[in-house]
Amino acid sequence: MIAATDFIPSKYSQTIESGNFQWSAPSNIALVKYWGKKDNQIPANPSVSFTLNTCKTITKLAFAKKINTGNFSFDLLFEGKPKEEFKPKIQKFLERIEIYMPFLKDYHFTIDTENTFPHSSGIASSASGMAALAMNLMSVEKALNPAMTDDYFYQKASLLARLGSGSACRSVKGSVVVWGNQANIEGSSDLFGVEYPYAIHDNFKQFQDTILLVDKGEKQVSSTVGHDLMHNHPFAERRFAQAHENLDTLIPIFESGNLEEFIKVVESEALTLHAMMMTSMPYFILMKPNTLQIINAIWKFRNETKTPVCFTLDAGANVHVLYPKSSQEKVLQFIKDELVGYCQNGQYICDEIGIGAIRN
Ligand code: PMV
Repeated sequence: MIAATDFIPSKYSQTIESGNFQWSAPSNIALVKYWGKKDNQIPANPSVSFTLNTCKTITKLAFAKKINTGNFSFDLLFEGKPKEEFKPKIQKFLERIEIYMPFLKDYHFTIDTENTFPHSSGIASSASGMAALAMNLMSVEKALNPAMTDDYFYQKASLLARLGSGSACRSVKGSVVVWGNQANIEGSSDLFGVEYPYAIHDNFKQFQDTILLVDKGEKQVSSTVGHDLMHNHPFAERRFAQAHENLDTLIPIFESGNLEEFIKVVESEALTLHAMMMTSMPYFILMKPNTLQIINAIWKFRNETKTPVCFTLDAGANVHVLYPKSSQEKVLQFIKDELVGYCQNGQYICDEIGIGAIRN
């Protein structure tokens, strides 16, 4: 079994003065949800997600050798302009990954980042952002150690991304990614996300995710606080066991393409995630009235038209509408006719399943 210590390098074969890289990494949407963690961003239960395609972060990383004074040195730009507010998160990330990247204090970094989705859309950029940064840092390490294998490169990129934001570890690869130890999924690990290793039916190829922007405001409760409330949560142990069961249930569903069964697991997972929030102490609700309006409209439409469309939710009020490519026309018409009115300023984003991070 691979251990975290396997990713601590001994010595690099090359020295390098300066350089720059650019990577883009997409967001992802979990089908079985990660909610609750142990130390070092080790998940309390495994999760599986579809990697997205359109919603992504594009990050340029420039680096130049400096004298190691025992501090990290970096500038952070968002859309080309300095963004001081983002710096503490990056500083913390660098501290967490330093043990795996002993060269970090030998360079000054300029991190220039932008998202393809609108700022403050309520779409979390932490998954795509941390994944894009992790990919760039791995490119620097690969320059120092060109003998590095691809497996090591991607596993370590995911491990680093995980330390930035748990779900970010699922944004390195596509198109279906598992994170967390699951006995029946070979190669699965608590340390990094892996490509789902078994058969996936054509029904899931080009699967669509239309994100309805219900509420673009700041969340009242952060994911960090939410994860933490799973400690001593009265239903935690049962919930963690259920996530394992649901992941096992999805294995034959991915193979057969049975969308009816797929929908049951996915919608139940979304509602369970929010049920955990509502039953923690203190309790909280991230759904908004329009979230429920949309869910009810989807159920009605599905019932009446037999279209295999369903919803899932992140830790927020926005609704991800999931459906196969073959139902695209029908569902988009339904969204325009009946759901747009529930979106803030009528905004929604059309995305689909994607292949993971790309070097630009
Ligand atoms: O990666 P974090 O710490 O922001 O956690 C996000 C967790 C959910 O989005 C709610 C579920 C998931 O598995 O992505």
